[in-house]
Amino acid sequence: MGFFHYLVLFVLLSLPVLLGAQKANISLGSYLTASDDASWRSPSGDFAFGFSRINNQDLFLLAIWYEKIPGRTLVWYANGDNLAPKGSKLQLNNNGNFTLTGPQGQEIWNPKSSTDGVAYAAMLDDGNFVLAGRDSNYLWESFKNPTDTILPTQVLELGGKLSSRQTETNYSKGRFQLFMKTDGNLVLRPIGLPTDFPYPAYYESNTDSADEMNSGYRMVFNESGDLNVFLRNGSVVNLTKNRTKSMGDYYYRATLDADGIFALHAHPRTQTNGSLGKTWFAIWSVPDDICSDMDAGTPTDLGGGPCGYNSYCRLDEKRRPLCECLPGFSLSDPNNKLNGCKQNRIPNCHQDNAKPEDLYEMQELPNTFWPVSANFEQLPGVDEDDCKRLCLHDCNCMVTTIREGTCWRKKLPLSKGRMDYNVYGKAMIKVSKSDAPSDEPSAGNSEIEKKDRATLILVGAVFLGSSVFLNFLFVAAISLFVFYSYKTKLKPTHTSNILEPNQRTFTYRDLEEATDGFKEEIGRGAFGTVYKGVLLSSNSRTYVAVKKLDRMVQEGEKEFKTEVSAIAKTHHKNLVRLIGFCDEGSNKLLVYEFMSNGTLASLLFGMSRSDWNKRLQMAFGIARGLTYLHEECSTQIIHCDIKPQNILLDDSFTARISDFGLAKLLMSDQTRTHTGIRGTRGYVAPEWFRNMPITAKVDVYSYGVMLLEIICCRRGLEMENENEEEVILADWAYDCYKEKILDKLVEDDEEARNDIKRVEKLVMVAIWCIQEDPSLRPSMRTVTQMLEGVVQVSEPPCPSPFN
Ligand SMILES: *[C@@H]1O[C@H](CO)[C@@H](O)[C@H](O)[C@H]1NC(C)=O
Ligand SMILES: *[C@@H]1O[C@H](CO)[C@@H](O)[C@H](O)[C@H]1NC(C)=O
Ligand SMILES: *[C@@H]1O[C@H](CO)[C@@H](O)[C@H](O)[C@H]1NC(C)=O
Ligand SMILES: *[C@@H]1O[C@H](CO)[C@@H](O)[C@H](O)[C@H]1NC(C)=O
Ligand SMILES: *[C@@H]1O[C@H](CO)[C@@H](O)[C@H](O)[C@H]1NC(C)=O
Ligand SMILES: *[C@@H]1O[C@H](CO)[C@@H](O)[C@H](O)[C@H]1NC(C)=O
Ligand SMILES: *[C@@H]1O[C@H](CO)[C@@H](O)[C@H](O)[C@H]1NC(C)=O
Ligand SMILES: *[C@@H]1O[C@H](CO)[C@@H](O)[C@H](O)[C@H]1NC(C)=O
Repeated sequence: MGFFHYLVLFVLLSLPVLLGAQKANISLGSYLTASDDASWRSPSGDFAFGFSRINNQDLFLLAIWYEKIPGRTLVWYANGDNLAPKGSKLQLNNNGNFTLTGPQGQEIWNPKSSTDGVAYAAMLDDGNFVLAGRDSNYLWESFKNPTDTILPTQVLELGGKLSSRQTETNYSKGRFQLFMKTDGNLVLRPIGLPTDFPYPAYYESNTDSADEMNSGYRMVFNESGDLNVFLRNGSVVNLTKNRTKSMGDYYYRATLDADGIFALHAHPRTQTNGSLGKTWFAIWSVPDDICSDMDAGTPTDLGGGPCGYNSYCRLDEKRRPLCECLPGFSLSDPNNKLNGCKQNRIPNCHQDNAKPEDLYEMQELPNTFWPVSANFEQLPGVDEDDCKRLCLHDCNCMVTTIREGTCWRKKLPLSKGRMDYNVYGKAMIKVSKSDAPSDEPSAGNSEIEKKDRATLILVGAVFLGSSVFLNFLFVAAISLFVFYSYKTKLKPTHTSNILEPNQRTFTYRDLEEATDGFKEEIGRGAFGTVYKGVLLSSNSRTYVAVKKLDRMVQEGEKEFKTEVSAIAKTHHKNLVRLIGFCDEGSNKLLVYEFMSNGTLASLLFGMSRSDWNKRLQMAFGIARGLTYLHEECSTQIIHCDIKPQNILLDDSFTARISDFGLAKLLMSDQTRTHTGIRGTRGYVAPEWFRNMPITAKVDVYSYGVMLLEIICCRRGLEMENENEEEVILADWAYDCYKEKILDKLVEDDEEARNDIKRVEKLVMVAIWCIQEDPSLRPSMRTVTQMLEGVVQVSEPPCPSPFN
């Protein structure tokens, strides 16, 4: 138990000594004037302290940055709220006074520490800038006064905090804070500006404890790039336990980004020729879903949420928040998408006795909702038309939502709005008719720059017709990456306006009608038959694929609901989306969105070959989809039957995995008897036949086989092939790889032959995937990273060493 204490003590004691040996002193009397090349470097040259020009203007930020990485990533800055004009001067006086003054001698920044006894300053190799006393003790350290970044070896003590910036390029204090609370909990929380009043946390490390001895007392960012909270009892809590592995020699930094996400970033130290990324990339971040996590815990109506007021939040594919203004609104600060939106026109209720219908219309925003706090009235038993009308006629009403026959009216400002495609239902927003797109947007708003006018007009044009608008949303929908459904803990029972996750139920009759009596069969698989159908609503036709399950396990009633809800919770652009289901006794049906372009199998093995790059995109997409199923959705889903027949292609030829989540549903347990083998000959992993546990690695195996098929456009097994060594694609591919004759694999594919380096890399990835020993196979996440070039692909061993 004393070990960690010892470790900390050792690190703390040894640090100044170790670094002291290398430091180049900045002696009293030194100064820097604000210009591009004014800086003091650390002895190794890794970091520099000095002036950094902002936005190509004659304004400078006193900052610390990585000197060896192009693009100047700042890790600390002094005067974000008060930039220094050209001609400003930073001076370390003979009396130890360290001050940044403007050209007129006005004070811009000082470290607010006692100047008594300052003997020198130093830029250290770990990124810490210090003012040191005569006995080399540190009187002031940038590490003790962090901005939005912490670096390896840096510590956040109780009461320590990071503050986000306003935007990527505006270093003023932003709305988010990482705070080491005195109870030992590390939290992320929004703050109200300019008072810094804290709102409830949207992430907690849970390192507080009723017993003070078991609570945390400091966060340490250690040299291996892990964030740890040290507990008073000697234990260490590894916050970045599940971070993406990175190999090799990296710079690390953890930042509270302008959008409120706390992320650990890595960058290779040395410029390598390999496929390692040469930019910063995030290897860990919290929270997972900032759009919904920000009103988790204790919902409060204070604060604007991740996007500010009158906007709504959705996640992009990197799980970063995307903020969008409501129709009729535009950004409050055109340079900052996270700072909320303002109304283009303030509605005037008593205008010339005009009818509200002539002045306003209710615009629909599908899948959008707000927490309860925005409501001011609940009107049960009102239909959609009445709900709209009532809002049009009510001066106070800006937005209504309809949920289960209840109409909710909401007032401004609206905060914490979210758009989530897992949620059915819609919001209707009152928009002034004179706010039509052809009008000058936001009249009387001279400070909006031309560029932003252009975007507003563009946005306006998109909203022009509702069908165009819906298209826009649809495109947005399929380009979204991951959506967790509304977390159960956030689902207060009394707030029926918070919509349930996507679990629309259909009656058997509904589906019989939709499919015209199950007339058009479009597929038949291990689980049942698939029919094409169409769902009609008042103004739209949605084509669907209805899957009739025919092999249900008997006791599967409760399981069916669980599995269906797990499937319904998934949302990824490379997965076929479940729209709903029917569960009437033995009639179990699943309703999916309809994929218009057939299967990957028909594309690969059909008459005409699809082009190389398109095929690669599909391979990448499928890998991302599987990574999501294995690691990123709320319950892990092992597909068990990955093959080209189960990959469907949508309108834009994006590959979408289908039939996932069914494996568990349709077998009482995943037995390994011959009939119990899930999967298809040629694609099943060896562990199905052996006494080995079935893990996500079975999908990796199948993916490997399929990747070879994608590369070569042929089936994994070609019994009729006259060249015996070419019958099994996996063996043949390994032989070609070993003998360095990969062009034979893609003999009649000119595009691929011209890209033979890439062919080699993909074949290597595939060989890693089809290793007989599951533990040698990489995870799908690693596969994705190898394909994307984030991690290097090493030489694979022979897949079946014992044959
Ligand atoms: C330090 O120097 C600045 C500018 O030269 C001056 O404004 C400030 O009063 C000095 N502070 C102290 C404590 O001497
Ligand atoms: C830096 O200054 C301190 C105090 O004057 C001195 O003890 C130390 O030797 C100096 N180090 C270097 C490398 O000059
Ligand atoms: C940064 O944002 C703040 C707050 O919105 C604003 O007052 C300030 O002028 C901005 N600074 C720059 C350099 O744009
Ligand atoms: C310290 O406290 C934590 C949190 O209660 C607990 O999980 C851990 O086991 C404790 N460690 C020791 C060494 O007592
Ligand atoms: C950093 O922290 C991690 C996680 O607690 C630990 O495994 C690792 O050994 C630490 N590295 C160093 C250099 O202390
Ligand atoms: C902490 O997480 C890292 C993952 O990056 C892992 O390497 C390390 O072993 C973990 N340490 C502990 C003590 O769990
Ligand atoms: C990296 O590539 C350059 C030019 O392609 C080459 O000169 C250099 O030797 C390579 N370095 C390594 C470490 O492979
Ligand atoms: C790590 O765990 C946290 C908390 O459970 C989660 O929010 C986050 O998404 C995970 N990160 C990765 C890379 O899996």
